[in-house]
Amino acid sequence: MNTQDQLLELLADGKVHSGEALARALGVSRAAVWKHLQQLGTLGLEITARHGQGYKLSSPLELLDAELIREQLGKALCRQIAAIEVHRSIDSTNSYLMEAPADAPATPGRLCLAEYQSAGRGRRGRRWQSPFGASVYLSLRWRFGETPSQLPALALAAGVAVADTLEAAGVEAVGLKWPNDIYWRGRKLGGILLEMRGEAGGASEVVIGLGLNVSMPPGVAREIDQPWVDLAEVLGSNRPARPALAAALSRALCQAVLRFTDEGFEAFVAGYERRDVLAGHEVRLEQGGKILQGKALGIDTDGALKIRINGEVRRYVSGDVSLRRVS
Ligand code: ATP
Ligand code: BTN
Repeated sequence: MNTQDQLLELLADGKVHSGEALARALGVSRAAVWKHLQQLGTLGLEITARHGQGYKLSSPLELLDAELIREQLGKALCRQIAAIEVHRSIDSTNSYLMEAPADAPATPGRLCLAEYQSAGRGRRGRRWQSPFGASVYLSLRWRFGETPSQLPALALAAGVAVADTLEAAGVEAVGLKWPNDIYWRGRKLGGILLEMRGEAGGASEVVIGLGLNVSMPPGVAREIDQPWVDLAEVLGSNRPARPALAAALSRALCQAVLRFTDEGFEAFVAGYERRDVLAGHEVRLEQGGKILQGKALGIDTDGALKIRINGEVRRYVSGDVSLRRVS
């Protein structure tokens, strides 16, 4: 473990630690401790210095735990997973898995989670705010021997799996906004980014990335330019611990991929429809610089979004449109 990771583990309890005690535990000078503390600040961690006493995190940290994820997945699922990687800091868990070498067919899955993303991505080049330890940043890569038809609908299926998991944890009325947003009472709680990379011979790989706000520090949250919410607000002190939630979500996503492979999107349609926050509402959509307005009519059996525009029903398959509800 490097010095910065050791420092994090020491501070994770949220209690005050003197500079001297930290220096001693890490075997470095007090000046070096101070430098490391500053670096932690750049990851979005709020560290306060108490005069004459020492340093503390503004709130205790719940660090992710690969072993807990392994336990949650169980033996049968683990056999299909090439690796469960937990990174302290990464550019983007999705980018990482999109670039990492392919896995063997016998282990089609790979999980990558991080405490912090320096370049978390939303759709269409947008930024996903990813402060340290504040949310779940989780990507699952899956290799399909044969590319399933309706693959874009996997983003919707993943949304249903996330909503089921959140509802099991006590969140009431999770909403889904086509194609990839997790909503709660009109505010964005999380998002899914599905990316694909083709391979030869009918095989393909997808990366499903999930960002889910758990407890966002106010400073970073001010950067989010639309209504948002985190689980700390939704569930208060009843919210699940972040490591346990990350493990439950990892399992739910793996299971959703397996079910999607066997049964197709059909198995998820009802779970999507009852949470569809757009159906029946006027929406404004932007595609290729053009703005259109119409009424959202829900999804088709393949996950396409149906919108009535000037009396004509159009289908949108790709996630290449941006949508806002206007009523
Ligand atoms: P659409 O794709 O239909 O336009 P969208 O505006 O939600 O929906 P996305 O690309 O899906 O766009 O998500 C990225 C957007 O999400 C950012 O532009 C920002 O407004 C918001 N966002 C960024 N970080 C967070 C976060 N941690 N929590 C909630 N929302 C966030
Ligand atoms: C969206 O609403 O646009 C989707 C946001 C997806 C964010 C997650 S966080 C983990 C993974 N890594 C990324 O860079 N993005 C996804």
